[in-house]
Amino acid sequence: MIHTLALCGFMGCGKTTVGKEAARQLGWRFLDLDDFIEEREGMTISEIFSKYGESGFRQRENRALQEILSTEDAVLALGGGTVLFQNNIAVLHRSGARIVLLDAPLPVLQRRLRRDTQRPLLQRPDRETFINQLFAQRMPLYRAASDAVVRITGVPEKTAALLVELVRSPDRALEQSDTT
Ligand code: S3P
Repeated sequence: MIHTLALCGFMGCGKTTVGKEAARQLGWRFLDLDDFIEEREGMTISEIFSKYGESGFRQRENRALQEILSTEDAVLALGGGTVLFQNNIAVLHRSGARIVLLDAPLPVLQRRLRRDTQRPLLQRPDRETFINQLFAQRMPLYRAASDAVVRITGVPEKTAALLVELVRSPDRALEQSDTT
């Protein structure tokens, strides 16, 4: 039985939107790691980055992940960098969470992130090139960390339904999502 789905993937792939919808369809709770960190610290992610740097953010992210995983029957939207760190993967595995990659095509991500003002990593003049490089670097790591891959459909309700299928019949859904 799966009790926690942890959604990973690149910034803009829909972890929050699809995760909320999957939680609704499952009758589970929805949790967002970035929101949890912001509440816990009383600061936005941008403020944490500018005050403590990325490494300070990552320390807080790991602590928050340990706390948030005590909730069961939950869909958890991770941050775009969470599963790039072995200590976070270890915490997720220990909790029994199933890690699912939301796989979105690069052009879709570029379009969604073009005008972003909230994500500290993207506030740079060479954003488009940077996203291309980061995508190439991170995708293999996301795949390696994940138990399953779900290709986004462009319709959050449909992508969420694939996640629900994964929870209800994990073996069958795994085969299907791998071929899409
Ligand atoms: C990050 C992604 C963000 C947030 C932080 C760092 C990353 O989450 O955790 O800005 O390293 O990709 P989203 O993927 O929800 O934007």
